Amino acid sequence: MASGSTTEPERTKRVAVVTGGAAGIGQGYALRLARDGHKVAVADLGPADETEKLIREAGGEVFAARCDVSEADSVAGFATAVGERFGHVDILVHNAGIYPIVPFEETDWATWRRIMDVNLDSLFHLAKAFLPGMRQQGWGRIVVMASATFHSGPPGMVAYTASKGGVIGFVRTLAAEVGEHGITVNAIAPGLVRTPGTLSGPQQELGLFDALSAHQAIKRVGVPEDLAGAMAFLTSDDGSFVTGQTLVVDGGFARA
Ligand SMILES: NC(=O)c1ccc[n+]([C@@H]2O[C@H](COP(=O)([O-])OP(=O)(O)OC[C@H]3O[C@@H](n4cnc5c(N)ncnc54)[C@H](O)[C@@H]3O)[C@@H](O)[C@H]2O)c1
Repeated sequence: MASGSTTEPERTKRVAVVTGGAAGIGQGYALRLARDGHKVAVADLGPADETEKLIREAGGEVFAARCDVSEADSVAGFATAVGERFGHVDILVHNAGIYPIVPFEETDWATWRRIMDVNLDSLFHLAKAFLPGMRQQGWGRIVVMASATFHSGPPGMVAYTASKGGVIGFVRTLAAEVGEHGITVNAIAPGLVRTPGTLSGPQQELGLFDALSAHQAIKRVGVPEDLAGAMAFLTSDDGSFVTGQTLVVDGGFARA
């Protein structure tokens, strides 16, 4: 059967970077990629021991290192370490993100900057670090976490929603620049998902898990595994003609 691309590397096992892969949705992504046979490099602020253990138990190959995605030097150092370990990178899943719930009038400049640094500026650093290799090999997949808040605009999330809107714009436009090199760039916009981040935030107290899932077509709270299939598709060969898109995975909360 025709492969659709003459420059595609002849390998089924690829190398995937997952940011924020120590916990939550990122851990689910890292595990899924490993179970699909890819080598996985996890970048996280904290230790990724649990993710490493789960991947090794599943028979996968994993490398993890501390990396602050908001810092250009930290991302560059991580990229060098991954290159030394795995030689190249085929797939970048930028999942690390923060989502403080703060009314705009109480949002100071430092909070705004931190949210932009971690959620959006990080994408600049990561794309700069990993795109050249993808371009050189003529194959690459970039998937970035956006959020369904971009569509719903919930109160208390002006900075966060603006940062994820930036992600959506970045993905759309970068896709147009790199498509001819066999690289796709997409975003996933989840609804509310049960993760360490949302469980330790005010979401529970605000009754958001019950309120939002009641409005969904599928009336249960999302879990990281609900997102893994979308990521797996977008980073696969099957996703080769899908680019510049934002795939909403929210149990049918938004039904536009
Ligand atoms: N959980 C949800 O309901 C939800 C909904 C929409 C979008 N998202 C997006 O999904 C992504 C993951 O969310 P989650 O709920 O799994 O988060 P989480 O807080 O449970 O886990 C995030 C992981 O990212 C890491 N991280 C945070 N800042 C980092 C940095 N500067 N550098 C490297 N690693 C860093 C954390 O250490 C942690 O391991 C985020 O981008 C978030 O905005 C989540």
